[in-house]
Amino acid sequence: MAETGNQPTRIAIVGAGNVGSTFAYTLMLSGLASEIVMIDTNLSKAEGEVMDLNHSVPMTSPTKIWAGDYKDCAGAVVTVITAGSAQKPGETRLDLVQRNADIFKQMIPEVAKYNPEGIILIATNPVDVLTYTAIKLSGLSPNRVIGSGTILDTARFRYLLSQHLGVDPRSVHAFIIGEHGDSEVPVWSLANVAGMHLPDFCRLNGRGCGDEEQERIFAETRDAAYRIIERKGSTYYAIGASLLRLVEAILRNQNTVFSISSYIEDYYGIRDVCLSIPSIVDRGGVEKVIMLDLNQRELDGLRSSAEVLKGIIRQLKL
Ligand SMILES: NC(=O)c1ccc[n+]([C@@H]2O[C@H](COP(=O)([O-])OP(=O)(O)OC[C@H]3O[C@@H](n4cnc5c(N)ncnc54)[C@H](O)[C@@H]3O)[C@@H](O)[C@H]2O)c1
Repeated sequence: MAETGNQPTRIAIVGAGNVGSTFAYTLMLSGLASEIVMIDTNLSKAEGEVMDLNHSVPMTSPTKIWAGDYKDCAGAVVTVITAGSAQKPGETRLDLVQRNADIFKQMIPEVAKYNPEGIILIATNPVDVLTYTAIKLSGLSPNRVIGSGTILDTARFRYLLSQHLGVDPRSVHAFIIGEHGDSEVPVWSLANVAGMHLPDFCRLNGRGCGDEEQERIFAETRDAAYRIIERKGSTYYAIGASLLRLVEAILRNQNTVFSISSYIEDYYGIRDVCLSIPSIVDRGGVEKVIMLDLNQRELDGLRSSAEVLKGIIRQLKL
């Protein structure tokens, strides 16, 4: 996979912090890319990460890894954006959004200038608002700009459900949709194991799946980042693994369904916002946003989530 014909498979990573370097490490171990370029305003940090990564190449697969600049995004199949600043003490959420949007104003046009054909994959928070911002700033077709969205929340949800149900997380089919954040929505009505809705699975297999269990599992899913940040300062392994899986689906044209954030043209009347819905991802980016058979409660939750995001977007100075 590392080469496509005679073309090297290049992945560019903007932001060599915890998320960017963890993703670079998983990508190098995967052998999916033959070239990895890391770009950061803190060049010394990017260089340090690159040196450390390069010293693991002899134990893994041949990969060219270097600290570069935006020109090096040229030809990258995917440019993964993990650059941004974290919330400062006393700063409101909106101040943070504006600060990261200002970083995007400088960064995204550069990526698009050197790589008008590539896919941009965004992890920087708040990811839904910044995915919308990147679409506006890049001029790329919206299906080529993807936010990691609730792929991580969905992974957390499946893991917690798997622990409760006693099955492999990969055998749990369940999604979190909407904002990657406090207004996200669990789609309980479609969650299943072995094709059985959870109430049936639980009844026939001696597990409890009542309102109390559901509330606890969802609260643990939604609040996981807070709990991790309290303990270790930031989260990066699971987002690194999620970004790798997305990049794999793109490179290998896998048509995989992920809950990712993308531009919503018209979804049950929700328009002109980026949020997460299970979507098919292939070599071209977002191939299709899947229509789900949501119940009224889930639909109301999704609409409120869209309103929260639109409220923030309206206040942004783009
Ligand atoms: N989407 C998700 O599920 C998810 C999960 C975890 C973290 N995140 C987000 O990822 C982002 C990065 O987190 P982190 O822990 O790696 O932070 P970090 O502070 O460790 O790294 C951020 C890096 O961005 C760089 N940077 C800042 N401005 C830049 C610019 N203009 N151009 C290039 N580089 C620039 C910094 O120098 C730094 O190295 C944050 O916004 C965080 O909230 C998202």
